[in-house]
Amino acid sequence: MFGFNYFTPTKVVFGRNTETKVAELIKEFGGRKVLIHYGGGSVIRSGLLKRVTDTLDGAGIPYVTLGGAVPNPRLSLVYEGIELCRKEGVDFLLGVGGGSAIDSAKAIGYGVANEGDVWDFYDYKRKAAACLPLGVILTIAATGSEMSDSSVITKEEGWVKRGYSSNYGRPRFAIMNPELTMTLPDYQTACGCTDIMMHTMERYFTNGGNMEITDALAEGLLRTVMVNARILAKDPGDYDARAEVMWAGSLSHNGLTGCGNDGGDWMTHKLEHELGGLYDVAHGAGLAAVWGSWARYVYKNCLPRFKRFAVNVMGVEPEGSDEEIALKGIETLEDFFRSIKMPTNLRELGVAATDEDLITMARKCAAGVGGCAGSAKKLYEQDMLVIYRASR
Ligand code: NZQ
Ligand code: ZN
Repeated sequence: MFGFNYFTPTKVVFGRNTETKVAELIKEFGGRKVLIHYGGGSVIRSGLLKRVTDTLDGAGIPYVTLGGAVPNPRLSLVYEGIELCRKEGVDFLLGVGGGSAIDSAKAIGYGVANEGDVWDFYDYKRKAAACLPLGVILTIAATGSEMSDSSVITKEEGWVKRGYSSNYGRPRFAIMNPELTMTLPDYQTACGCTDIMMHTMERYFTNGGNMEITDALAEGLLRTVMVNARILAKDPGDYDARAEVMWAGSLSHNGLTGCGNDGGDWMTHKLEHELGGLYDVAHGAGLAAVWGSWARYVYKNCLPRFKRFAVNVMGVEPEGSDEEIALKGIETLEDFFRSIKMPTNLRELGVAATDEDLITMARKCAAGVGGCAGSAKKLYEQDMLVIYRASR
């Protein structure tokens, strides 16, 4: 067991109608002028944005709005947001939407609070010394950005998708009303469930350290998400299933399911980020499409964890060799992905990648992780290419 820092400063306000609390929360955290940042328009169609602005109007809190954060949010909009905040004297950010709107808001926050080009942080050139305070109203259970220290941005030039993590970027508050996720397309609900599972699995498949309590939390979380993802595939309006998945999403990426381990593997995410950057695919679907190929490539190097996963999470009978059990666990998870209509390879993801594309992605991925990374198995550029090729 390794030592760890567990820092989750976000005030979570969870349940029906909790968005009505937004003005008092902004005041509680000292916001005087707000940028409301949102995505492509779902919050307009659902009426949520209007309810939020009405609440702020009623409380006398001035605000400006900026929509347009797309899935795989773009750097150009971040620059626009930074300029807007500076011009308008904004001192508080409110992200309304999913991981894309929230991540874009975090990036704007870094840009306003620090001198120089905000991309430097995502390009690992320097670290942020501050971030504008941020609150969020979550509309999709997926990334955990509502409590996480991460923000993932895509730079259009070269289509480079990179994440930056800093405790400064953790939201001050997160409003989570599971009802707000009921307007999601089924595909996005399933993408979200996949991403949630993957955030815990990235921390679970390691070769360094473990804690029984952390493993038990991780396994319980994974089982819970699978059960409720299946319910939502049949009945998207099930409030309790929405609530279970929403809270799991936050716990899966606020650090809880990684305490005591070596920081995790994270290579499925790194491989997916190249797919998201190049083909603009939904993050959760991209993860599902490469996970099986990654798992088959690395499982022998992390056999005890893959075996444990198969038995404790996937419900595989512990019969046969450890390798057979581990492989059955991988297959069972792929079956689950198919059952919620997630892809298990690039073709099913809708990506017709040429070998040249795969070579480019492997090169960019290796460069993005500083040459090699991974805990289940350390992966270099040539390993990444083998995995991409296997996932076609
Ligand atoms: O843009 P709008 O119109 O809002 O539509 C969105 C978008 O099309 C829609 N949507 C969201 N809530 C909805 C809704 N549609 C109807 N009703 C609702 N209630 O769903 C689509 C996806 O939204 P998005 O915000 O892109 O999804 P997600 O939360 O999955 O975020 C994905 C981004 O987050 C990054 C991903 O790489 C990707 O760029 N990640 C961020 C992380 C973090 N900050 O900690 C960690 C993750 O591993 C991930 O990398
Ligand atoms: Zn993710």
